[in-house]
Amino acid sequence: MADKKQLGLAVVGCGVVGRMRAELARDFPGIGWIGLSDVNEKVMNKLGEDIDADFITNDFRELIKRPEVDAVIIATSTWAHVEPTLAAVEQGHMLFIEKPLATDARESAQVLAAIEAAGVDAVVGYTQRFRRRFLVVKERIQTGQIGDFTAAVVRAFMNRMAPTGETRLTQDRRFLSPMVVSGTHSLDMAFWLMGDAGDPVSVYAKSTDKILKDDLGVKDATFGLFHMADGSMFSMNICWALPKVWPGAVYGLEIGIVGTEGVIDIEDTHRDVILASENPQGPAYQPDGLVIEAERPVDFLTSFPPGDTHRGELWGPMREETNNWFQRIYNKKDTPHATAAEGHRNLMLTMAMDLSAKTGKEIKLPISPDELMAGLEA
Ligand SMILES: NC(=O)c1ccc[n+]([C@@H]2O[C@H](COP(=O)([O-])OP(=O)(O)OC[C@H]3O[C@@H](n4cnc5c(N)ncnc54)[C@H](O)[C@@H]3O)[C@@H](O)[C@H]2O)c1
Repeated sequence: MADKKQLGLAVVGCGVVGRMRAELARDFPGIGWIGLSDVNEKVMNKLGEDIDADFITNDFRELIKRPEVDAVIIATSTWAHVEPTLAAVEQGHMLFIEKPLATDARESAQVLAAIEAAGVDAVVGYTQRFRRRFLVVKERIQTGQIGDFTAAVVRAFMNRMAPTGETRLTQDRRFLSPMVVSGTHSLDMAFWLMGDAGDPVSVYAKSTDKILKDDLGVKDATFGLFHMADGSMFSMNICWALPKVWPGAVYGLEIGIVGTEGVIDIEDTHRDVILASENPQGPAYQPDGLVIEAERPVDFLTSFPPGDTHRGELWGPMREETNNWFQRIYNKKDTPHATAAEGHRNLMLTMAMDLSAKTGKEIKLPISPDELMAGLEA
């Protein structure tokens, strides 16, 4: 093992998430050379200094073509994953792609097809899979402790600071819906936990847009019901329009999964560690260019999904997920990361909920990317 060659890593997108993952890469012994790219030179140069990067460019194509690169992290803005992903696939690099795989179902299908044709190992950033509580639930379900799946329900409540940050860099918000951007995390969690039983044949959903439409140009909430081939069902509900003073920094979840021989009920709203202070807390999510004026005198600690910082280091799910990926690419370890195919499925299902909400009709599944996009663009 000692003479094993260190890997070269390219990180495209040096914002909040790219920074977290690049800092962890610098500490991982199996990674040597690190190159960075971002169109925002300020955040790119600062990260370059902080991790002593080996190469920096504002042109991701130049970075991805460098001979030192073996693996690429795509941590660009939500709607900017496709081009750098396809460039990395063309070079045959191992890939870690932030969710969602794309924000257009046709492009997502194109990305998946390219990944499969090239045979590259590509995973998608469904970070919450790497939490102990969800891993133990997955283990109990797959070893048959609740029997066969019959019904599941997810309720996701989010502070509106998340869509405020998400929309700050683009005016094209047509497909930046609560399900495509954020509900994708809890939808992935539910389908991962359901395993093979998660075989949807239809979805019906409704949305509301009373709160965020004027300020941010996005919907507030989408609630939907999936039916499965075997007659079981899954209700997926998200609202990302909670007030900025809501104590949850980003995400609060409740998930219930009922089987023929048992039930698992997950309370994940982070009300177990609460801070109340005369020194109000600012936002947990602080990307470049986002100004949030609200102060939160009460804070549900540990409610920032990537994790929390202590002594300048990130502790939490994104640390576990990123280090586990480094073991996957360096030691060829099998890991629970979402595959590119699962990332594509998640986009198709989140967009199918949006299409149902738009048309008022139940959508039969599977649906083709062309039909889905034609309906959403109509
Ligand atoms: N896995 C998780 O838990 C999690 C959490 C938050 C965000 N995300 C995802 O991570 C990604 C990044 O989010 P973030 O919070 O770091 O946002 P961010 O805005 O802080 O960073 C995104 C960066 O990408 C850069 N960028 C945009 N287009 C680019 C291009 N074509 N080439 C190079 N750089 C480009 C922007 O300049 C910005 O610096 C998004 O896809 C988001 O959905 C995942």
